[in-house]
Amino acid sequence: MGGLFITVEGPEGAGKTTVLNMLGMELKDKGLNIVMTREPGGIHIAEQIRKVILDKENTKMDPRTEALLYAAARRQHLIEKVIPALEQGSIVLCDRFIDSSLAYQGVARGLGIDEVYLMNQFAIQEIMPDLTIYFDIDVELGLKRIEENNGREVNRLDLEAMDFHIKVREGFRQLLDRFPNRIFEVDASKSLDCVYKEVKSKVEDLISKR
Ligand code: TMP
Repeated sequence: MGGLFITVEGPEGAGKTTVLNMLGMELKDKGLNIVMTREPGGIHIAEQIRKVILDKENTKMDPRTEALLYAAARRQHLIEKVIPALEQGSIVLCDRFIDSSLAYQGVARGLGIDEVYLMNQFAIQEIMPDLTIYFDIDVELGLKRIEENNGREVNRLDLEAMDFHIKVREGFRQLLDRFPNRIFEVDASKSLDCVYKEVKSKVEDLISKR
């Protein structure tokens, strides 16, 4: 495949979506072929699955059902959008991917990283990002940022207790140890400008080596 698959990950309120949008616009302005997308979602079927997963009324959802639905949305999104874009040589910038399942379902829900990884293999068939940028932020600071960001939707997972969000962050930190070559960490408590510059330089470095 000729393109590049870049994902951003992190707990709530880390600012990854804002930085990703800024980066996408700047790279597009430079004439690069950029596809911006997100998980769960990015295409019609996966956006429908997203609604089911994140619906605040679906409080009965079992953790394994949740993990399977994320993987189902991931599969369809890969087949319909990500793989075709990579085959055309595009740079795909994706807001969340498998690492979110490993941290949220694997660690925070307690299903186990290995179990969730194995289950996801069925969905992704070894397609992994070329680079993942992990936005690390203190849980309380992240949740405070969400409260202040009135425009953002509050979903079923946002409503989890503090303990859940702490485990999510621990999960991401375990992934940093597990995939040191793929995952690049940024300190998202720094100013937006500072975080943006760091992310941009990492991504441009990768693009230049393509
Ligand atoms: P977001 O679009 O605001 O990031 O919301 C997506 C929510 O879904 C967020 O709380 C993280 C969660 N999530 C998982 O739990 N597992 C996954 O595999 C993905 C992609 C997201």
